Amino acid sequence: MSGDLGAGKTTLARGILRGLGYEGKVKSPTYNLIELYKISRLYFYHFDFYRFNDPIEWEEAGFREYFNADAVCLVEWPEKAGGLLPRADLQFFFHITETDRNVEIQANTEAGRRCLEHWQALSSP
Ligand SMILES: Nc1ncnc2c1ncn2[C@@H]1O[C@H](COP(=O)(O)OP(=O)(O)OP(=O)(O)O)[C@@H](O)[C@H]1O
Ligand SMILES: [Mg+2]
Repeated sequence: MSGDLGAGKTTLARGILRGLGYEGKVKSPTYNLIELYKISRLYFYHFDFYRFNDPIEWEEAGFREYFNADAVCLVEWPEKAGGLLPRADLQFFFHITETDRNVEIQANTEAGRRCLEHWQALSSP
């Protein structure tokens, strides 16, 4: 999830978790860098890499092992990890204009495309 400070990344993450049935508090991972949610059999990790000053800090934090096929990883400020992060299935680009807010969603993989198609089917009448 990419976009300026306050663009709405955490707010959308909260909505996604609500949509998955999580009813507890959804904190911004700004200070802890990571928040874990166990939803049914799903491991859902919410990261915020804003505080990293150098991509090497991402490597040293040991976060690479979280990015595996059993987990959903949602990342705010992915650019702070430089090119070290694996390719995202979906990328979200948040924009705030003078009159509204919008988000552009890009699928980069087959899994991402399937997810987006499913989402579109759910939201069309
Ligand atoms: N679609 C929206 N409409 C109105 N207000 C919104 C919307 N999305 C987010 N906000 C408000 O904007 C503020 C910042 O949102 P949020 O914390 O989601 O931003 P963020 O992109 O995660 O920022 P950061 O980069 O600091 O983590 C919050 O007060 C939130 O309620
Ligand atoms: Mg945030």
